Amino acid sequence: MNNLQSLLEKALNYHQNNQLMSAKPLYDKVLQINPYQTDALYLSGILLHQLGQSDQAILNLQKALHCSTDKINILYNLANIYFELNLIDQAISNYQEVLKLDPNHISSLKNLGSIYFSNNPQKSVEYFQKAFNLEPNNIQNLCLALNLIDQKKHAFELLRLNYNSFKNDISYHNTITTIIRGLNYLHLNQNQQKFIENLYETNLVCHDALNSLLSEYFFKSSKLIVANIHYDSNFDLSHISSIFLKFLRFSCVSSKNEEWALSSIRSFILLNIRNFKKANSQILNDLLEAIAIQEFKLEYSTFISNNEKEKLNKIKVKNCINTLLKACYHQINNDDVKILNENNYYLLSEVYSIENTIAQIQIKSNTLNNKVSIQVASQYEENPYPKWAFVQRFQPKPLKQFLIERLSNKEGISQLPNEISVLIAGCGTGKVLTELLTQIHYKNAIGIDLSIKSLQYTQHKINHYQLHDVSLKKLDLLDSQKLNEKFDFIDCCGVLHHLEKPQLGLKSITNILNNGGFMSLAFYSKIARRNINLMRERLKGIEANYENIVECRHQILNYFSESDPVFQISLSTDFYSISGCRDLLFHVCEHQYNLLELHTMLQNNNLDFCGFQFSDNQKILQYIKRFPQDKNALDLKLWHQFEQENPDFFLAMYQFYVRKIK
Ligand SMILES: C[S@@+](CC[C@H](N)C(=O)[O-])C[C@H]1O[C@@H](n2cnc3c(N)ncnc32)[C@H](O)[C@@H]1O
Repeated sequence: MNNLQSLLEKALNYHQNNQLMSAKPLYDKVLQINPYQTDALYLSGILLHQLGQSDQAILNLQKALHCSTDKINILYNLANIYFELNLIDQAISNYQEVLKLDPNHISSLKNLGSIYFSNNPQKSVEYFQKAFNLEPNNIQNLCLALNLIDQKKHAFELLRLNYNSFKNDISYHNTITTIIRGLNYLHLNQNQQKFIENLYETNLVCHDALNSLLSEYFFKSSKLIVANIHYDSNFDLSHISSIFLKFLRFSCVSSKNEEWALSSIRSFILLNIRNFKKANSQILNDLLEAIAIQEFKLEYSTFISNNEKEKLNKIKVKNCINTLLKACYHQINNDDVKILNENNYYLLSEVYSIENTIAQIQIKSNTLNNKVSIQVASQYEENPYPKWAFVQRFQPKPLKQFLIERLSNKEGISQLPNEISVLIAGCGTGKVLTELLTQIHYKNAIGIDLSIKSLQYTQHKINHYQLHDVSLKKLDLLDSQKLNEKFDFIDCCGVLHHLEKPQLGLKSITNILNNGGFMSLAFYSKIARRNINLMRERLKGIEANYENIVECRHQILNYFSESDPVFQISLSTDFYSISGCRDLLFHVCEHQYNLLELHTMLQNNNLDFCGFQFSDNQKILQYIKRFPQDKNALDLKLWHQFEQENPDFFLAMYQFYVRKIK
């Protein structure tokens, strides 16, 4: 081996072991001896880029290109450097040079697909399609690009047909979720129905997305399966498919149409039970079980007519069908649950058994002192909110990365420690807690809330999702100093506006946030809740009990025209369960804000606004289109103006991140 070659090998060895500073002088030495040594030019070009010296890196790679016969790798690396430096035209032309030499160069095809993804999705599809043809692993990129050019159904079919190879892949399921969310309506053939049924079972695709797809299919299609009920006294059980049963078991009714259809089926079966008994009892019982599970989730919020009440009172014989019928209208007792078990109706009996398990969970408790906190606690003890079933799974990542992807004001994110502690203040039934802790790396987390019942529900979910190092306490966030701990990240969404003095609550949690730490906050918007306020005005003085909530819901759905502002309340998913509706319309303490008021509140607490959080990316683009001068969408005064022009924009609360300034 000659001297040059051994120097080069030594350099490469250091380089491969990431000892860049040891490798560099050796490459330099080789190039001093022979300035045209192609390998040294090529490898030192890569190394210089790694060291941040991209200009010199490009010069070396270009020299290597002239001397080398194997141009593909050099061109590809040059293209990558241009891509990273955001010199997109140069990147494109170098990737294309690679493809001239090797039309099947998968990485170049993929990178070209990514480059064109946002501004020329059609071209992006072409490149991703070629990459997919060569290597099926590239299916996700292709489908996300197809989604952008409105070929969502094609993307859905591709994902379905290739499902077996990716069954356990979380990101594959995230892609399916994205595609399904984009599908407005899909007429589902048998194979697609089977696929959707399987997706429910895997628990990796967001159930809300599956539910909306099926809701469109069942309730808005021209073949509205359940509409027959209304016109046809011989309601035919053969309309009931296994996917419809699955939908009832997994979804939560969230529109007037769905509620009407379900309550019509329920009532029709009860009032005509004699005729039904002659029919296929297996399908009938399965349907009743699915409705009973649905009603359990809604906490029996649907209005019951006098005819139904009379008929229910007449049910005396204790058998399976009667038990299932009763379970569609109210909670049944332990003896009835036994009947279900004896007849193999385990899905419904499991719902009851989970509730019993939750009630046994022990929670550490502190005394509450604030008068309003005690009232709020009693509301959530009676109606813990929100009852939820499912959170979407993601690959957990460091908090820094999680925030970089979400915040438009990224200042200070890199200074966060790697090992972080988290507080979820007012964690309620734990939905946000579970969503967050399944997505980020954390050292330890604490959830506090006023309501033991909510905390028991949260603990049950913590066990189910196997979250590590999370403890729960019943504690007023006004007393958060009692935790004797400071946190790097605090979530307090939908909570502070229920305190007697929200500003004191904000001060209390800000005091236990580390300097430079981040918080996620959410408050009600006065402007967005104007219709709710109309109804709250009418409900003043009416007790928030079960009967009143059912009656109020019935009136909103039936006595207000669809164009009436009050009817708009029924567009909220919360409207459809008792606890949701109580939270929405009957809360014991609710403050509302506008963005100017929140701006002042943040300033008073040395909190820097870092950006809104939206479930739909289009929302931010809509604002930037209106106010292009506010490129990072951080000017709350302009946002206030924007909200006045778009009064429903913050229906789902003002949800945003802040950072504590030192
Ligand atoms: C609407 S729920 C929101 C729950 C949760 N943050 C979420 O987004 O799913 C409001 C929760 O805040 C809790 N809460 C209200 N005031 C509180 C206080 N002073 N201290 C602690 N928790 C409080 C209530 O008990 C209730 O569970």
